[in-house]
Amino acid sequence: MALPIVKWAGGKRQLLDHLIPRIPLHMARYVEPFAGGAAVFLAIADSANGTRHRHFEEARLCDRNEELVVAYRTIAANVDGVIACLKKYRHDEAVFYETRALDVAILSPEERAARLIFLNKTCFNGLWRVNSKGHFNVPFGRYVNPTLCDEEGLRAAAPLFARASIDAHDFTESLTNLGPGDFVYFDPPYAPVSETAFFTSYAKEGFGHGDQERLAHIFRSLSDRGVLCMLSNADTPLTRALYKDFSIDVVEARRSVNSKATKRGNVQEIIVTSWAPPQP
Ligand SMILES: C[S@@+](CC[C@H](N)C(=O)[O-])C[C@H]1O[C@@H](n2cnc3c(N)ncnc32)[C@H](O)[C@@H]1O
Repeated sequence: MALPIVKWAGGKRQLLDHLIPRIPLHMARYVEPFAGGAAVFLAIADSANGTRHRHFEEARLCDRNEELVVAYRTIAANVDGVIACLKKYRHDEAVFYETRALDVAILSPEERAARLIFLNKTCFNGLWRVNSKGHFNVPFGRYVNPTLCDEEGLRAAAPLFARASIDAHDFTESLTNLGPGDFVYFDPPYAPVSETAFFTSYAKEGFGHGDQERLAHIFRSLSDRGVLCMLSNADTPLTRALYKDFSIDVVEARRSVNSKATKRGNVQEIIVTSWAPPQP
């Protein structure tokens, strides 16, 4: 089964059993505007995946994170080249900080993709967090012997990414010309559960209260046009209010991204659908 090639905050592997049964068996377009690790896309696109597999004529993936998008596109186009670059890395703190400091503008797409994967596998908690200038700023992690190059995983994901258009921009730009027969799965950065929530910045622009409102507005207008929409988010008063007119189910999720291990327990998430689905 094709799995995410990166560890990603908010990754959806653990919620697949809740999410996938809600996805139609056949779609004209499958759209994931906040792709991140793309756990859902990789699961449904893989035809070896039995009951999880879904048919779509076109897939669109989008994420604000340009490094991630370059990596996915390059894996689709030249997985051998990415693997060759990745094999040159070794797990070492000095190599980590040198790689972190590299100017991506002077790297080939294959080197850029390998840099992202190496940093993701070796940084603290597998986070991708950037500062206000957009520079990756997560420190070295404490893994004992991380797998830097999962050749099999990369080869499994490559043909699936090759079936999608993958773009680095704001989520709204992936939502043009959609109508009945199309399906969108929104997995935005979580609405903060508390004011001091540790992890908020996948991208230098952040994703604030206004963005959550903008997203809910778009969810409604797509749904009015007959597009089937599904969204996952933290269960908070804000998200409850924004989606009160839609079907909301609560599920338990394990939240692994918190600066304090003691605060990493289970949290409630909601799955919102623009239609009332049969219970999985
Ligand atoms: C919760 S994660 C998605 C996790 C994903 N479903 C998975 O399985 O790994 C949210 C993603 O939204 C991206 N993002 C943040 N702001 C965005 C924006 N305005 N438009 C598009 N993507 C955005 C982040 O870079 C991040 O990868």
